[in-house]
Amino acid sequence: MTTRMWGGRFSEGPDRILWDFTVDHSDRRLLREDITGSLAHVAMLAETGLLSGVEAGTLTKGLQAIMTEADGNAFRFLESDEDVHSAVERRLGELVGEVAGKLHTGRSRNDQVALDLRLYLLRSAGARIGGLREFCLAMVEAAEQVGDTVVAGYTHLQQAQAVPLAHHLLAYVSTALRDIERFEDVSRRMDVSPLGAGALGGSSLPLDPDRSAELLGMAGRYMNSMDAVAARDHVSEYAFACTQALVHLSRLATECVLWTTTEFGWVTFGDALTTGSSAMPHKKNPDIAELTRGRAATAIGQLTGLMALQKGLPMTYNRDLQEDKAALFTIDDALAGALEAMTALIGSAEFHPSPPDPSVTALDLAEALVERGVPFREAHRVVGAMLATLAGGGRSLSEATIADLVEADPRFEPADLSLTDPAGSVSRRRSTGGAGFASVREQLRILRRRLT
Ligand code: ARG
Repeated sequence: MTTRMWGGRFSEGPDRILWDFTVDHSDRRLLREDITGSLAHVAMLAETGLLSGVEAGTLTKGLQAIMTEADGNAFRFLESDEDVHSAVERRLGELVGEVAGKLHTGRSRNDQVALDLRLYLLRSAGARIGGLREFCLAMVEAAEQVGDTVVAGYTHLQQAQAVPLAHHLLAYVSTALRDIERFEDVSRRMDVSPLGAGALGGSSLPLDPDRSAELLGMAGRYMNSMDAVAARDHVSEYAFACTQALVHLSRLATECVLWTTTEFGWVTFGDALTTGSSAMPHKKNPDIAELTRGRAATAIGQLTGLMALQKGLPMTYNRDLQEDKAALFTIDDALAGALEAMTALIGSAEFHPSPPDPSVTALDLAEALVERGVPFREAHRVVGAMLATLAGGGRSLSEATIADLVEADPRFEPADLSLTDPAGSVSRRRSTGGAGFASVREQLRILRRRLT
């Protein structure tokens, strides 16, 4: 037996093959949103006189009882429920009898599922923003913990300039703050009620979509009923917000993997947040970071699927759209999980990075000449040539003498030798927002205020 909302014109019940192929249980996650939408719908129907006060009271009580079951994880789905919408209506019928048949007045599953998904995403956007903030706080704490530790900053994965490790860590807070903005942004566009659009063209009944939106606490109603049931761009946008955040996390994840190598040895993560090898007793593996990268890959694939799903679909609702939920939830779960795990991993980190190679101060030497009026291009060549000479003699910049400097260019002064200290290079860094100690202190001050 099946619970169908559409038996009337059919001479026989659905074949098992049809049922197995078309029914997708991933919408069960929308249970609470579905009930919330129905509660608002009932209230609107009562206000417009489409339901009597008694009927509305009965339906509301029934729906509230179902919400209590949902809250207590006690709601039982039946294999015969076609989707979450029919499951709720079926249960309502069990609880309040015949009058349950009035719930779907002036409504279609098309505007219903569109609403459920918007409500769900508005709630989960809030949760992801919370997760991103926790992540930011963990990064800020790590940055505070490492103090003035100086490391090499890299371009092309080659040591480039000395930077405070804190500055490097805080770069990920800048990315995460934009990720938060993306969720806030898509939430604004998502905060629109499709309820009242019906199947696609509205209704001959005196519905009040504005009131439905108001009862739901949403910013407003749809402008065009066909768009209301057909649109899924907010789903793509939300999925992109998740995927971009995962892509950012995956960059940090790669650095976490790199930094734990024997070759780098910059960080140790907590034992409880790393895994061992079944074969090699010495191994301590950064699986959380690796799987964060892996989940980002999955999210990119699912996001692409969501775009392909909408491409070329004619107006308005098409059953293809049912596929949006499994993809969306996979992406959303990937971010939720990665945020929690990466936040914990960073929280467990002990940093002990090796100092940069003194060659990272080459730019400082060139800039010393620039301050004496030498064109930068020439200064760059002078320092490059000196490094080549040193390397030819098997020496590095840390072994250079004042004689080497003066030989390279007579405008070098004895005090310039001290410029080859990486920590000194960071101390002299004074451009706003740059990798100097003062800039890091300012970022920490701003971030602390913004995040608490
Ligand atoms: N399960 C469907 C979905 O997720 C619900 C809407 C069904 N509407 C319909 N006309 N069959 O898209």
